[in-house]
Amino acid sequence: VTAAADGPGLLDPFDPAFYANMHERLRRVRECQPVYYIEPLQTWCTTTYADSELVFRDARFVKRGWTQMVVNAFGGEALLGDFLFFKDPPEHTRLRKLVRKTFRPDTIDRLAKTAADTVDRLIDELRQAGRGDVVTDFAWRIPVPVIGSLFGVPERDYGMIADWGRDLFLATDMTRPDRLPAGKLALADMYAYFSTHVERSRTRGDDGFIARLATTSVDGDCLSGHELVVMCLQLLIGGYDTTANQIASGVYLLLSHPDQLRRLRNDKSLLGNAVEEILRCEPAAPFVGREASTDVELGDTTIRTGELIGPLVAAANRDPARFQAPESFDLTEPRPAHLAFGIGSRFCLGERLARLDLTAAIARLFGAGVELTPEGPDPPWRPSLLFRGLESLPVSVA
Ligand code: HEM
Repeated sequence: VTAAADGPGLLDPFDPAFYANMHERLRRVRECQPVYYIEPLQTWCTTTYADSELVFRDARFVKRGWTQMVVNAFGGEALLGDFLFFKDPPEHTRLRKLVRKTFRPDTIDRLAKTAADTVDRLIDELRQAGRGDVVTDFAWRIPVPVIGSLFGVPERDYGMIADWGRDLFLATDMTRPDRLPAGKLALADMYAYFSTHVERSRTRGDDGFIARLATTSVDGDCLSGHELVVMCLQLLIGGYDTTANQIASGVYLLLSHPDQLRRLRNDKSLLGNAVEEILRCEPAAPFVGREASTDVELGDTTIRTGELIGPLVAAANRDPARFQAPESFDLTEPRPAHLAFGIGSRFCLGERLARLDLTAAIARLFGAGVELTPEGPDPPWRPSLLFRGLESLPVSVA
């Protein structure tokens, strides 16, 4: 296969057929044209580990163009542009310092029990029903109770928050403009809800996470009321669909590799490897966007000022120059670090929480003595290059 023969058509994010054999396509893209122009999205992408790490780390690549695109798509809705995820330095640096001071490893580790209890309750429900959908009945129902307990949100509101979170998250997918109206509505509702909740948490004078975030200061600077509300939305949205998809993809990977699942069940010390291998093989954020703030040479390719580019993490995580037998899902193969959470100054803020949720889900589901058997044909992947996840994964439970 040569670049000239099929390079240009290899990667069409708007073609649903692309997702069924995405990894095979990405392998060919990497072999043909490692720095590749995704014509339908009008953006470059890097498919090797080395180039992708460079784009993540190099300050010449900024968010600006993607932020503009998302804000424009939202009809000039500035609120979304206020998310840490969409900011560039110096605002990005300032906000990140402030939130990291409160969203700390020890704070996150204390959520382990909530994660375990949530997962156990869902497993019980699946067991009682005798069947269910791993996506909707399990994976999607884990992240909100965990972060909700950190925020001190009433349990009765979890369902509503989960619905908003999903609508908003799905609307930030550039390949699905039809989802924008529902996303806009969800953003407005969520902002109103969290404004009230944050105000209540502050005036109650408790020492919960939100009250602490409100009073956190770095060199005398702290978050404004608006920034505080937006940061809550950011942590909730950033960690909802990504974590849920990652859990469902992980369950699927283990169910479709019974030899690996057997190994995991026989040797619990492989759990950490299983979590990393799931993140490497099916990263929930397969493509991350940047804009070139100046002309940059990447190999033979010049990325021009103002052009969009991004690390194609799903391809970089299977680069044979970094990973032995990269296409195999193997819990015993020693692996170097992957890029599922990015790297550098924008390294995923919720990486510890995502790993905590994913670990609880995998350990308890496959350690609970239940047998899951996939029902029906191969489950479909959602047609999106920005968010990798299964549409559904029906199983019988015994
Ligand atoms: C498996 C689940 C997750 C995956 C695959 C994932 C992936 C990523 C990636 C690749 C980035 C880097 C974006 C960039 O370089 O522009 C990122 C950033 C971010 N993530 Fe995650 N994430 C996950 C879970 C979470 C969770 C649980 C939270 C919050 C509780 C979260 C909050 C964020 C935030 C706030 C950023 C922006 C950081 C910045 O720009 O400085 N993520 N995530």
